[in-house]
Amino acid sequence: MTSTFLAEDFAKLVLRGHAQEDACSIHSTQSSDSEDPFKKLDLVENRPPSEAHVSFVEVEGLSEPIALAEDLSGGCGGRIWEAARVMTDYCLWRSRHEPEWMSGKHVLELGSGTGLVGLAIAKGCHPDSMLLTDQLQMLDLMQRNIGLNKAHNNTQACVLNWGEPIPENITRPDIILASDCVYLEVAFQPLIDTLMLLTDENTEIYMSYRKRRKADKRFFQMARKRFILTEVEDPKRSTYQKEGLRLYQLTKKSSK
Ligand SMILES: C[S@@+](CC[C@H](N)C(=O)[O-])C[C@H]1O[C@@H](n2cnc3c(N)ncnc32)[C@H](O)[C@@H]1O
Repeated sequence: MTSTFLAEDFAKLVLRGHAQEDACSIHSTQSSDSEDPFKKLDLVENRPPSEAHVSFVEVEGLSEPIALAEDLSGGCGGRIWEAARVMTDYCLWRSRHEPEWMSGKHVLELGSGTGLVGLAIAKGCHPDSMLLTDQLQMLDLMQRNIGLNKAHNNTQACVLNWGEPIPENITRPDIILASDCVYLEVAFQPLIDTLMLLTDENTEIYMSYRKRRKADKRFFQMARKRFILTEVEDPKRSTYQKEGLRLYQLTKKSSK
């Protein structure tokens, strides 16, 4: 099956997004914030969550689509999220205008899920290396998608749990990407702790985000204590803002 990430498929994503928002708002009024607000997603998907589903996702700026297995059996990261488009659009656009931006850089993606964002950026922005990371239950899916796209030359996947010590095999990246990782209040501090461990003042951090719940504001309040946050000047910024999508750059504050 062929899908177009920025056109036909986006309509599907928006529809899914509304369903997802409903799940979140039901969650925020009826249950505790420590639960995963995406738990109910399998109710809005048309296929059984254990069935892996492969499609071809067109990403603006890439000459070939990304082959993508989606599989919700390992958790909410097993499908494409809307904020992924914000991140891929920006990085591919910037690389077209500034080809040296990622060249020679080590890039690490947090909460990669399917790996779509990292794979598209590894293909289109030519970093030296791209490390997709997520929890153990997403590892097979990330590796499967690296294989489907024959991306082993510069892309690898490994487990990185937020709030836990950084595994020894992970070296400090030059650039960190996190798409749609602000959604679970109990994970706010662990995510900030991981960003603190992986960065210095020169690390570029990009976070794409979809506004869902008021509680998400707390993440940015917490992050501002340790990082300087700026909204990225992106040619599609006003369109995204209307859809509740944002892209931030974070820079670690000096400890001096
Ligand atoms: C909403 S999904 C976004 C997936 C992907 N980045 C995208 O934009 O399509 C959030 C991702 O964060 C991951 N995640 C949640 N809590 C985590 C934790 N404590 N450590 C590592 N990853 C985590 C989930 O497994 C999931 O893949």
